[in-house]
Amino acid sequence: MPRVLVVDDDATTRLLVGRRLQREGFEVSSASTAREALEVVREGFHGVIVLDLMLPDRDGRQLLPSLRARAPECPVVILTSHGTADAALDSLREGAFDFLDKATLSERLLPTVRRAAETIHNEHGIAEGLGEVGFEGMVARSPEMRAVFRALNNALESRVPVMIRGESGTGKELIAKAIHDHGPRRDGPFVAVNCAAIPENLLEAELFGYERGAFTGAVGRKRGRFELARGGTLMLDEIGEMDPRLQAKLLRVLQNGEFQRLGGTETLTADVRIISATHRDLEAEVEAGRFREDLYYRMAVFTVHLPALRERSGDLPLLIQHFLAEAARREGKKVEGVDPLALELLQSYSYPGNVRELQNVIAYAVVSARGPVVAMSDLPASFLRAVAMERRRAERDAVTGAGATPAVPGASPAAFRLEEGTGFPTLDEVERRHIQAAMTRAEGNKALAARLLGISRMTLYRKLDEVRAGVSLKETLDDDLSD
Ligand SMILES: Nc1ncnc2c1ncn2[C@@H]1O[C@H](COP(=O)(O)OP(=O)(O)OP(=O)(O)O)[C@@H](O)[C@H]1O
Ligand SMILES: [Mg+2]
Repeated sequence: MPRVLVVDDDATTRLLVGRRLQREGFEVSSASTAREALEVVREGFHGVIVLDLMLPDRDGRQLLPSLRARAPECPVVILTSHGTADAALDSLREGAFDFLDKATLSERLLPTVRRAAETIHNEHGIAEGLGEVGFEGMVARSPEMRAVFRALNNALESRVPVMIRGESGTGKELIAKAIHDHGPRRDGPFVAVNCAAIPENLLEAELFGYERGAFTGAVGRKRGRFELARGGTLMLDEIGEMDPRLQAKLLRVLQNGEFQRLGGTETLTADVRIISATHRDLEAEVEAGRFREDLYYRMAVFTVHLPALRERSGDLPLLIQHFLAEAARREGKKVEGVDPLALELLQSYSYPGNVRELQNVIAYAVVSARGPVVAMSDLPASFLRAVAMERRRAERDAVTGAGATPAVPGASPAAFRLEEGTGFPTLDEVERRHIQAAMTRAEGNKALAARLLGISRMTLYRKLDEVRAGVSLKETLDDDLSD
């Protein structure tokens, strides 16, 4: 049976809340001070924590992080009294599950605690099943992504706005959809608006709709995305691109929970959960006066950072397999694997375009593949060139001491370590060693080595001759990269 810990110094609240929950079958413990609460948790309490923010020995706001740290799987519901809305928002940022105003306790206590209790089971389900797929359609098993899923679990059930941050192609839209699909609004619509794709002057009409004649060209009534998303989720993608005038209007709508169609008089309720996404540094945008600070605080209550793909290389093998199967199915081809050399290249690249870039590379490879296994020659030339460039850069940095870590394990500085006492290597020396490294990696296969280096086979032959002849190669190098 689900357990609940009620932490409040007020005996009447403890009694009322406790009784109410017990009647519904919860097993209730209580604590009247922060110290007692921590003790119960230390003894292995596993369940929902209902926490009053005003405690005699410690501010609940300080207690919350300690509780979250000791029992991260226990959702915490904050009790607030009149006038502590700011504290409630703070606590959500600190990872509280939701908050309850004591004034509306009788109606909201049960549903909120039930939802919180459900996430405990959810989390276990997800934690166990996470080996392959965390949220629907999201392939991930790296610790970095598990942390994202774990954090998200706390936001799924509540209606607080979620902001998703991350570089382009990291899966922001995919995870927004997953949040919708796993939350209480899953049966409602999921509507996404890309604020960057719609011209400034049309975005307002797109969001809020318009009545016939609202402006030139408004030939009939049109419902906006806020209306279309009613009862569901509205994703405001690329929110950082929204112009300040519209930001002001959006803030008003979010504050009042109401809006009107352009040119209309009827007041409509904004019954949507907002998920926003951006690849921009919003803090810098706020600093520069391009993004409203008040809107930022309203939307960023619960922020999720999607790590770049290069920061979660543990996901690469799974993702490669996933996209391979996906493309093979789409193309109706029997492509089932990747040969070792191609795999090594795929796994050693940093993917500035993140998951989307990987997906495109694999899709291309599957289309090109002649047999059941993707070979290096099936990979797009642009990809091979990018890998080669990255290796060159890494090796150059390793020699000059610039750039902390090479993006490519195979191209580690070790391969280029300076011999004791030889001082600074010349460019020729670096090139000669780099060519040797490529030849070694390609096991003496010159065609392969040329591809690794991003140069033509003819050029490699010439360079090998030159190396033998001890001729400087510097002049030809840059030209070759572009062929
Ligand atoms: N973890 C993942 N598992 C499977 N597919 C993924 C994953 N992450 C991203 N993708 C796929 O990668 C592509 C890019 O994802 P998505 O469009 O969600 O990224 P984004 O962050 O919104 O990018 P942008 O900033 O460019 O809009 C999509 O095709 C998506 O299905
Ligand atoms: Mg996107």
